[in-house]
Amino acid sequence: MLSRGALLAIGVAFNAIGSSAGRHLYNTTQILGTQTLDSPYPYEVPVLQDGVNASSGQFPMPTCNGFTLEEATIDQMQEALSKGTLTSVQIVMCYLQRIWQTDEYIRSIMELNPDILEIAASLDLERKNGHVRGPLHGIPFLVKDNIATKDKMETTAGSWMLLGSVVPRDAHVVRRLRESGAVLMGHATLSEWADMRTNSYSEGYSARGGQARSPYNLTTNPGGSSSGSGGAVAANIGMFSLGTETDGSVISPAERNALVGIKPTVGLTSRAGVIPECHNQDTVGCLARTVRDATYCLDGIYGQDTRDNYTLIQKAPSNGYTQYLTSKSSLKGAVFGLPWLTFWQYSSAEQQTTLLSLISLIESHGATIINGTELPSREKIINPEGWDWDFGSTRGYPNESEYTVVKVDFYNDIRAYLSELNNTDIRSLEDIMQYNIDNVGTEGGLPDVHPAFAGGQDGFNASLQSGGVMDETYWQALSFMHRATREDGIDAALYNSGNLVDVLLVPSDLGQVTNVAAQAGYPLITLPAGINSETGMPFGLGLMGSAWSEGTMLKWASAIEDVQLSGGQETRDFRRTLPKWLDYRAKNVPVNNV
Ligand SMILES: *[C@@H]1O[C@H](CO)[C@@H](O)[C@H](O)[C@H]1NC(C)=O
Ligand SMILES: *[C@@H]1O[C@H](CO)[C@@H](O)[C@H](O)[C@H]1NC(C)=O
Ligand SMILES: *[C@@H]1O[C@H](CO)[C@@H](O)[C@H](O)[C@H]1NC(C)=O
Ligand SMILES: *[C@@H]1O[C@H](CO)[C@@H](O)[C@H](O)[C@H]1NC(C)=O
Ligand SMILES: *[C@@H]1O[C@H](CO)[C@@H](O)[C@H](O)[C@H]1NC(C)=O
Ligand SMILES: *[C@@H]1O[C@H](CO)[C@@H](O)[C@H](O)[C@H]1NC(C)=O
Ligand SMILES: *[C@@H]1O[C@H](CO)[C@@H](O)[C@H](O)[C@H]1NC(C)=O
Ligand SMILES: *[C@@H]1O[C@H](CO)[C@@H](O)[C@H](O)[C@H]1NC(C)=O
Repeated sequence: MLSRGALLAIGVAFNAIGSSAGRHLYNTTQILGTQTLDSPYPYEVPVLQDGVNASSGQFPMPTCNGFTLEEATIDQMQEALSKGTLTSVQIVMCYLQRIWQTDEYIRSIMELNPDILEIAASLDLERKNGHVRGPLHGIPFLVKDNIATKDKMETTAGSWMLLGSVVPRDAHVVRRLRESGAVLMGHATLSEWADMRTNSYSEGYSARGGQARSPYNLTTNPGGSSSGSGGAVAANIGMFSLGTETDGSVISPAERNALVGIKPTVGLTSRAGVIPECHNQDTVGCLARTVRDATYCLDGIYGQDTRDNYTLIQKAPSNGYTQYLTSKSSLKGAVFGLPWLTFWQYSSAEQQTTLLSLISLIESHGATIINGTELPSREKIINPEGWDWDFGSTRGYPNESEYTVVKVDFYNDIRAYLSELNNTDIRSLEDIMQYNIDNVGTEGGLPDVHPAFAGGQDGFNASLQSGGVMDETYWQALSFMHRATREDGIDAALYNSGNLVDVLLVPSDLGQVTNVAAQAGYPLITLPAGINSETGMPFGLGLMGSAWSEGTMLKWASAIEDVQLSGGQETRDFRRTLPKWLDYRAKNVPVNNV
């Protein structure tokens, strides 16, 4: 975990870089004289308040060398960088100070990259010499701690057991972002092992990272498993982040942190170098504060990779997805479907009301909304109770269950991942489980020992029991879930008996929505859309489409975002708002699962 000592060391390194470049001259007398603060407020600690604001924290964010870093977009940052009024080194320093100010509260950072200032400085130099690699040149980002980086950082999925292990190479997505000039600031916290280990747990918790929290309400489930990737960007600790999703792990933390989240089609982004869960469903996605920023991120990571053969059949543009971004005027003639009985009826009354008001606004800009574009297979794939990746078994048919596939794949996929690590004796699921038992006090390998892992490691155990055997039940389940969620599911709803709709609009807070997109391997995008009046937690509006339709989905997402952002008072309640840091001193584990 980040310590103030570590930051101090970085600050010293920064001074060295600064003075060697002749840009910063320090007055020692002045610096020594200001080390003891007369008033630590407001940047160091929030001021205790009374009345309606008693539980809100105030974490005001200072400007960065005159630049408003809070809620800045990548385009705004590039403009300042190209004018020379801001450097990447300065941006990184400001983000480090933001981490210092806030991260003790929300624990979104697992580990900082000790090379961050050198990377930023070298990219500043490259820019000065007239070479700008593209829109991500000099822009800081974070990756979830299950995405391998071959550098001075550890890649551990939040577990102590992989500490010291050495990865063979950067994950393909990390390699690509480095080449695009983005600045890898650090690893983000997550739900340990991306939630594979148990089905009863505290979302956002890992032994190594502690409890990640959402800055909107620190007592409450921050969304997961890419919890730190969500909390960090929401708190303006970084520009964008990578998350991974098997079933909900990008969309849930994005929508619960008022962010844009893109969960791409399985195979659009390479999983090589990502600690796996299930090769049939895993995908690397983006979390950012605007559609354009999330799209820059996607452009920075998608593409073919020989180490992940699912990427070899992708249907993707050769020149990026930003070409699809548009404005609200393109909504004229658009047709959007509402799968009411499939999803909407299970949404809370408050979310229905808010999201439908937003949809009315979308309609007023010329889109046609068709209610009742249902997924014909819904009774077999939707548990009315909520998120359930073992609904097939719940119905009595393990041979029609997503979890049947996940359990088997995890057993095999994790062994393949571990086989490429150096300097570790963790080689199999058996080794993983033994470590968690040997270290039960921190890793909670048995039920009801650790408050964050009430289920112990029942998820791992279920995978172990499968033995990784791809038997008849496995293949039936795989073909069932593909057919039920694709032809008999999303594609049928989009076809709508011949009255085609462009995209399905769905409540992205609903676990059943991610269940379906996950099994299909189809894309899902979430946009910030409202705030829960009881908890202060955000929720989103989702766009659901068919395989490889990210281009058109981003077109509609950007048009809807334009409705949200360019309107007046009437759109104020349907857009991203800053976190209020409710219950900012909370340290409850487990978090409230509401
Ligand atoms: C350094 O700061 C001190 C206190 O503000 C001031 O008295 C002194 O003149 C400064 N020294 C230089 C070299 O600017
Ligand atoms: C509560 O905080 C909000 C936003 O920070 C502020 O506008 C409002 O005046 C505060 N209310 C009280 C009663 O302090
Ligand atoms: C990828 O390779 C594996 C093993 O070689 C094979 O079983 C699988 O069908 C391939 N998948 C795709 C999408 O090409
Ligand atoms: C959609 O249709 C269902 C009936 O199937 C109805 O209950 C619901 O209110 C309708 N929603 C909208 C937004 O029209
Ligand atoms: C693994 O580590 C050992 C000892 O540090 C080293 O000699 C070897 O080259 C490493 N192998 C790989 C594939 O990195
Ligand atoms: C795993 O499950 C088996 C069978 O249900 C049980 O006997 C065993 O105790 C479990 N092991 C752990 C570590 O939970
Ligand atoms: C699953 O097994 C049941 C029998 O228990 C069978 O009726 C059903 O067709 C099977 N499903 C699939 C997708 O094969
Ligand atoms: C934070 O969320 C919890 C539910 O998890 C709720 O009970 C609490 O009132 C919220 N805090 C504030 C200050 O609204």
